[in-house]
Amino acid sequence: MARTALVTGGSRGIGAAISKALKAEGYNVAATYAGNDEAAAKFTEETGIATYKWNVADYEESKAGIAKVEAEVGAIDIVVANAGITRDAPFHKMTPEQWHQVIDTNLTGVFNTVHPVWSGMRERKFGRVIVISSINGQKGQFAQVNYAATKAGDLGIVKSLAQEGARAGITANAICPGYIATEMVMAVPEKVRDSIISQIPTGRLGEPEEIARCVAFLASDDSQFINGSTISANGAQFFV
Ligand code: CAA
Repeated sequence: MARTALVTGGSRGIGAAISKALKAEGYNVAATYAGNDEAAAKFTEETGIATYKWNVADYEESKAGIAKVEAEVGAIDIVVANAGITRDAPFHKMTPEQWHQVIDTNLTGVFNTVHPVWSGMRERKFGRVIVISSINGQKGQFAQVNYAATKAGDLGIVKSLAQEGARAGITANAICPGYIATEMVMAVPEKVRDSIISQIPTGRLGEPEEIARCVAFLASDDSQFINGSTISANGAQFFV
């Protein structure tokens, strides 16, 4: 029987590419989105992938949403914690609200997404937890104290979960995309974006599909011994 995958933020950007790649691999896929009903409906129409709306920053909403997915699509074997936001500002201008919004969505959102599926994975003795971190969690980034803190936090989450899940057949890994051609990166002022691209030895932004292929590999049975790892996909911009 086909396994079931949940992708948060799975109807746009990197998440949409992940949802599609997992569907192409034969998984049952459910994708969550936060607010853009129109984009989600269009995505479902085009791909046949079911979309569910909830706020990953809210534990009870996540738990209820996941229960609905499990009833309608299947018990979740693969969870991709991808949903994330930016609220960039130089630190001297960053407000407590910008700090909390990013922490709540990007970091607490990972807890809220993985915790409700963890017990089921332990019982079924199989699970794949894949967290989409960022190059900026590895190297830090001007104007992203909040975002970089969450993305560095993701790496601590997967290293800890890997140790807890290993004997139950669960792996937990992170992917650190570099700068990928998505709306999030396109929102960076053009001058800044050009300067970022000039720092990427490959000479271009990455494509969402290049991240999706890493996810498909980590979701597969072939990746069982890879646990607690970080895959960097950044066009040689930064080495750990
Ligand atoms: N390094 C060093 N200095 C920088 C800089 C950088 N990367 N970016 C901006 N600055 C400097 C500017 O040159 C300017 O300096 P001067 O005052 O001397 O001219 C100063 O910082 C900006 O000051 P402002 O008061 O104008 O800043 P602002 O309040 O208008 O904020 C900004 C502007 C939010 C920092 C904007 O420049 C920006 O969005 N920068 C991009 C940040 C970024 O790279 N975010 C990554 C988004 S993509 C992503 O997050 C996906 C992923 O995982 C990779």
